[in-house]
Amino acid sequence: MSMHTRVSRQLGIDYPIIQGGMQWVGVAELAAAVSNAGGLGILTALTQPTPQALSEEIVRTRQLTDRPFGVNLTILPAIKPPPYAQYVEAIIGSGVKIVETAGNSPKEFIARFKEAGVTLVHKCTTVRHALSAERNGVDMISIDGLECAGHPGEDDVGGLVLIPAAARALTIPVIASGGIADGRGMAAALALGAEGINMGTRFCVTQEAPIHPSIKQALVQGSERDTALLFRTLRNTARVFRNAIADEVISFERRPGGCTFDEIRPLVAGARGREALQSGEVNGGVISAGQCIGLIDDVPTCAELITRWWRSAVTGWRRRGAPSGHELQRRAPSIVASDDAVKRARP
Ligand SMILES: Cc1cc2nc3c(=O)[nH]c(=O)nc-3n(C[C@H](O)[C@H](O)[C@H](O)COP(=O)(O)O)c2cc1C
Repeated sequence: MSMHTRVSRQLGIDYPIIQGGMQWVGVAELAAAVSNAGGLGILTALTQPTPQALSEEIVRTRQLTDRPFGVNLTILPAIKPPPYAQYVEAIIGSGVKIVETAGNSPKEFIARFKEAGVTLVHKCTTVRHALSAERNGVDMISIDGLECAGHPGEDDVGGLVLIPAAARALTIPVIASGGIADGRGMAAALALGAEGINMGTRFCVTQEAPIHPSIKQALVQGSERDTALLFRTLRNTARVFRNAIADEVISFERRPGGCTFDEIRPLVAGARGREALQSGEVNGGVISAGQCIGLIDDVPTCAELITRWWRSAVTGWRRRGAPSGHELQRRAPSIVASDDAVKRARP
């Protein structure tokens, strides 16, 4: 069974379900598992220490899947930026045809990617940035609402408003991101005008995610109130799991006069976050997580997850013929009902 929107058609996937780039998490095993399940898995370029290592990770992913997958390139302001142009060449040279850009405008790399026949999905958090990326030539927009893990931006607009606002303003397809963890979220996003969904947190809590079981359990146990916004005072907001480190950073930021990044740097160092994910030490570092942890209560495989969603989203009416994305949107209320029915039927 498959279902198509412009997003799934253009990306060559069965379901318009995407696993967003995730630092330390978006490696070959996870990306391949999502792609093998009919979605789009995405490797995270900067998780690999060098462009050469990224090329090797792409080779490893190809050994695990023959389905389409993409690479995320997160462009962050940095005093000593990574060699972005070399990562771009590693992606292109490896023959990857789908790239998710995020963090900043991808403008300087668009022509090179287009020349190489790459489909570009730009992820951003405001309609104005989405419009600018559309004008610059990207093919799709992933729009991240305030609920999301990682960087929700500074405008604080939740998905319920941001998704339809983006869908109304843009001509290219919109992918809803942030806060989605089950078939109901997916149906809602499609009803709001999105043609696909992008998730991070939900895919962290799967068997294939390269994350210690203790961290996955902590996320399962967390409620929708157990995330925190860090770096607000530095205008580089990040949504993370609320642990002892997050509380400490917030107390620094709440001091009269705030704090400088140098003061909190030792707490928030990327290496600490990576170590926490791998060692299972819940308070070991900053762990990105979205509000949808409140909706997650198990650790399935990616295939189980996608199949379950699909069943819950379309069973009952899919038999009547392959729906178009438009039809799915029209039928969204019955999809929500069917998801509830599946939940009730679960032991
Ligand atoms: C552990 C983790 C690491 C992430 N790292 C990145 C990253 O490096 N680059 C990026 O563009 N987005 C990153 N994200 C954001 C996701 O790609 C996605 O946009 C977001 O998780 C969607 O919100 P959700 O978690 O509510 O599904 C990360 C998310 C998580 C959970």
